[in-house]
Amino acid sequence: MNIKALIAQMTVEEKIGQLMQLTTVFFTEASEEETGPWKGVGIDERDLKYVGSVLGAPPAETFVRLQKKHMEEDRNRIPRLFMSDVVHGYRTIYPIPLGLGASFDPELVFECTSMAAREAAAGGIHVTFAPMVDYARDARWGRVMETFGEDPYMNSVMGATEVRAFQGDDLKSTEHIAACVKHFAAYGGVESGRDYNTVEISERLLREYYFPAYKACVDAGVAMVMPSFNSLNGVPSTCNPWLMDEVLRDEWGFDGAVISDHSAVGELKNHGVSGCDADSAELAFRCGCTIEMMSLTYYKNLKKLIEDGRIKMWELDAAVEKVLELKEALGLFDDPTRGASPEKEAEICFTSENRAIARRAAEESAVLLKNDGVLPFSEDIKKIALIGPFATTNMLKGPWSCRGKHVECVSIYEGISKLLPNAEITVAEGCSATWEDMDESGLEDAVAVARAADAVILCLGEPHEYVGEACSRVRIGLAGLQNKLATLCVEANKNTAAVLINGRPLTIGELDSVCPAILELWYAGTESGNAAAELLFGRVNPSGKISMSFPQTVGQCPIYYNHPSTGRPRESDNDGSRFTSRYIDCGNLPLYSFGHGLSYTSFEYEAMELDTHKLTKDGRLTVSVKVRNVGAVDGKEVVQLYMRDLVASTVRPVQQLIGFKKIIIPSGESRTVSFEITEPMLRFYDANCDHISEAGEFELFVGYADHKYLRDSFELI
Ligand code: NOJ
Repeated sequence: MNIKALIAQMTVEEKIGQLMQLTTVFFTEASEEETGPWKGVGIDERDLKYVGSVLGAPPAETFVRLQKKHMEEDRNRIPRLFMSDVVHGYRTIYPIPLGLGASFDPELVFECTSMAAREAAAGGIHVTFAPMVDYARDARWGRVMETFGEDPYMNSVMGATEVRAFQGDDLKSTEHIAACVKHFAAYGGVESGRDYNTVEISERLLREYYFPAYKACVDAGVAMVMPSFNSLNGVPSTCNPWLMDEVLRDEWGFDGAVISDHSAVGELKNHGVSGCDADSAELAFRCGCTIEMMSLTYYKNLKKLIEDGRIKMWELDAAVEKVLELKEALGLFDDPTRGASPEKEAEICFTSENRAIARRAAEESAVLLKNDGVLPFSEDIKKIALIGPFATTNMLKGPWSCRGKHVECVSIYEGISKLLPNAEITVAEGCSATWEDMDESGLEDAVAVARAADAVILCLGEPHEYVGEACSRVRIGLAGLQNKLATLCVEANKNTAAVLINGRPLTIGELDSVCPAILELWYAGTESGNAAAELLFGRVNPSGKISMSFPQTVGQCPIYYNHPSTGRPRESDNDGSRFTSRYIDCGNLPLYSFGHGLSYTSFEYEAMELDTHKLTKDGRLTVSVKVRNVGAVDGKEVVQLYMRDLVASTVRPVQQLIGFKKIIIPSGESRTVSFEITEPMLRFYDANCDHISEAGEFELFVGYADHKYLRDSFELI
């Protein structure tokens, strides 16, 4: 395909059309699920034919029809790009990314994402708006569900893994789709955890915590980048030259197409950095925003901007070239439908193999937060009480689940009934999970059901509509009467465990103080109920570890394990010294810290050995850690390696994750895992934002947060 020759024969309108994206609804007139305003955008219906890309995931049948029709009508025979948010599955839905983070298992993430790519490609998706690798510390922000949590290293590993899995080695492969990393940059740092809010973060912190995952995705060859809605240090990302030109293109070498977030170019006026749409269009275009999603400032202004000489035709051509190059890379010119069809979609999607992957992911992502010995429940239990607003619901897919269907999600009730067909399961909703509904009338019945049972499973959490975009919350506890319900049920029956369905770390101190066991399931997707049953009854041993701290109270937000040292550190939450960095009415530690997660077995860390205690700048150091399963059942342990740079010219985090490996250890046996440390892993951004390492002592430990099982140290020379 001679792209330059093709561009040379295109009209300005046709070129501008390639830089536009509108939702499917513009082409089908059918209402599709999407976010943001779309009505009254003011496009002339006759110009729709120019539009080069479509937002949304119509069924394969609709996609094929639309694409074929377009190819018949378009004189240039340029296929359209179809893009959608395939975030945690296309049709077979696996856990939200915050859950995947808790799996600490990149191979599993690869498997899930590859499956999502296959399904999406069969359905006619060409680009997914994923991975989302915003670094997040503030559970008030509803979109933490889309993140991998509060660790830059974890974010980088998982983000790059997703890029490789979505894209494969060749974008032409009809088992793969292009990835678009988002939201560049630091959307997770929105002030007060309020969605779309402003972000002010020093360049040093950006580079140290927020940038690494986006960079890892660029290094992994991500096809597209989406700038974030927020302003960053005073300039919206969509038109931030430092971010988009200096960092993304010049420093990191990204050369692909950029797509704005939904209506973000139009919103530059709201940010107050532009007084009119023409200026917004120019600002975004100048920053290399190739495609404008939904707002129509390019459509309405680019032609005039070119006539006025504010944008040159060669600049427009260069932008169009990026879009056409992507279409070419995806093989769309050769096969505009890329092999997608209703038949293929039916054959590839939601198969038992895919559901098995989603089920394993749901099992591996679940985190046993607390267990005073009640779990696992015996399968011989006769009478089970299933109580709470999430007991029978199948609204478990979680936001951003593309073509996933609630009706295809297995409820907790269904999962347990299937696992234990002979058990007598009594259900009582007890109360709602919202603040709006404080009706107490179901409590009494629930307590009676709990009292009469051999075991009680409380199904609690936050409803779908409290999770995801535009769902920031200042009350991040269990809404409604759920705490009261839990307290009453545990009073009635001590053999109780809670299962949580949610998309963010919740403040569950009240539940934690009364309930003997808590299993965090997250929004786990299609196989939620099956996974919950297997975990609760011990068919599967929980192995997840949270990748985002659960605060004791919302007042601790933002809270994260890898915080910088202070001049007046508080040694522990029992340290009563007054003039230390602390709250007078709450400890510093979260309720559950990053890296925490229990198992039905116990692991003992027996030895940690370093092959050298002196690391040279071009050398390598191997740390070996021996772990024994001293419990009665087989289990998986996530061995987490952390370091602390003890003395440096710039304040360093009190701990930072530098490696993790999830391994299975049979009961009674031990395993040794090794990690390699090299000098680049010890680099940090100093006060001048130079990426350097400094000679000196580094502490290493295995464990997590304040649970340091074994320690040692080495010197960088
Ligand atoms: C807005 C969201 O911020 C973004 O993540 C998403 O990709 C687009 N809408 C398209 O759905």
